[in-house]
Amino acid sequence: MFACFAVVLAILLLVYRRLSRRGGAPQPSFIPEKIPFVSHALGIARHGAVYYKSISDRTRLPIFGLRLLTQTIYVVTDANLISKIQRHPTISFDPFVLLAAERLCGASPAMLQTMRNEMKDGKKTRSSLMNESHILTHSAFRSQTNLSEMVGKILDIVSGELEHTSAGDLFQWVRHTVCLASTDAVYGPQNPFRVDTGLEDAFWNYDADLSLLLLNFLPSLTARKGHFAKKALRQAFTNYFRNGGSEKASGFVRACNEANRKRGISEEDQAGFEVVHCIGLLVNTPPTLFWMIYHIFSDPDLLEKLRIELIACLQPDNIEDSTAKILDIEKVVSDSPLFQSTFKEVLRAHASSLSTRIVLEDTSIGSDILLKKNAVVHMPSACLHSDPAYFGPGTESFDASRFLPGNLLKEGMAAKSQAAFRPFGGGSTLCPGRHFATMQILSITALVVLGFDVVPERGEWVCPRVLESTMTTTVLPPKEDVRVRFERRRDPRVGSLRFKV
Ligand code: HEM
Repeated sequence: MFACFAVVLAILLLVYRRLSRRGGAPQPSFIPEKIPFVSHALGIARHGAVYYKSISDRTRLPIFGLRLLTQTIYVVTDANLISKIQRHPTISFDPFVLLAAERLCGASPAMLQTMRNEMKDGKKTRSSLMNESHILTHSAFRSQTNLSEMVGKILDIVSGELEHTSAGDLFQWVRHTVCLASTDAVYGPQNPFRVDTGLEDAFWNYDADLSLLLLNFLPSLTARKGHFAKKALRQAFTNYFRNGGSEKASGFVRACNEANRKRGISEEDQAGFEVVHCIGLLVNTPPTLFWMIYHIFSDPDLLEKLRIELIACLQPDNIEDSTAKILDIEKVVSDSPLFQSTFKEVLRAHASSLSTRIVLEDTSIGSDILLKKNAVVHMPSACLHSDPAYFGPGTESFDASRFLPGNLLKEGMAAKSQAAFRPFGGGSTLCPGRHFATMQILSITALVVLGFDVVPERGEWVCPRVLESTMTTTVLPPKEDVRVRFERRRDPRVGSLRFKV
């Protein structure tokens, strides 16, 4: 037994040495492991993208390689290099879309075959479903009419929820409220999350198992909760489409449904795509909103300055009620520099987007970097966001005024920091929901800041640790409860609040 173990270990060490030697120039430097084949895998499983940041902080390399058992990963931490990689024709995200269709949507074999047929040299073709969905999603979430309609509904629902919210864990409250409000706004009156109230738990079980579902190693055993949750979500959305739920839904769902029906895509496959849309819709907005509320209410000085700034945006509602005030969301977005800066700082400090790509063939970047075929490329935003060269001194602490006009300009870094600011990723996969998420988060935060005091139950705010292990969430959620009370404010400067979206 021992001899067998020793032989296997010796073979593994030999393979590891050969691989490490192959890793010399011109490929990027490979980071050695304390325990070959184990340390990196364990580091990624435990700390997610934070593991990349710890290597980047230690080595200061613009790009480095990690060898897992059968997979090479290149991690890029330099904004210039990222921009070259994003534009390179032989480095693509498209193979992951196919993988996600199979493993996260549960697409039928026929659907997968169609998607494969519509790809050329590992990339989507112009007339493919993949390309059509991409264009459609971006245009639906850019349309001001769609955005106003959806954000208006969201504010109505959140205001209603706040009427009977008094105390509880802040993140649970934010997550539940955003989940119901966003899905109502997007899916309309037959929202599957309202039809079956257990679907929300199913979605969070699915979300928690996303990395394991992507690995696809006996998912019914290794990702049991996520695997069955995916089935429940698919079934709920299949019923939704069969019962004509999309007819009264948002412009986005109606447009997707029409395009899919024209291509003869089954209701089951449409349902699978919708399950993945829910990841975009639901996963990153709640933690961002949580950190907005946490940072604002844990800093009384910032809270007061923001109240003054937001009150200056209010207009009297002379027509309906002389005590009522209107908050014009467009005005909040354009005329509240500190509020904007706070939001950007939350994203800088807490977003950890990965921007994944795959190398389709051996690819040279400039004259000195060779990326090997089939390697995965990750471009983690956290490495850039913590670099003082891009965002000025003190990047390890939260500074709500960092993005105020003039502050980064003063340091002569405005253009550099713009290129390095990547909470929504970049290039061909730049988040299509970024305008929607921004309007949603700013308006809900404004509603809470103007109408409530959020008070920690234990008397003082204690910053929770974050859940590092997730590789599929960009804005890392808190790992610990932060219990709070919502206390309504009676501020004559605010009166009763209405929104103009
Ligand atoms: C604060 C909230 C959000 C953050 C931080 C965020 C961040 C991101 C990031 C980092 C990516 C990947 C970009 C890349 O790989 O380069 C992404 C992609 C995506 N996001 Fe968001 N997102 C947010 C909200 C939303 C919302 C509300 C929606 C939908 C309404 C949405 C829909 C999507 C979709 C569909 C993609 C895939 C894009 C593609 O593959 O081309 N996101 N998001």
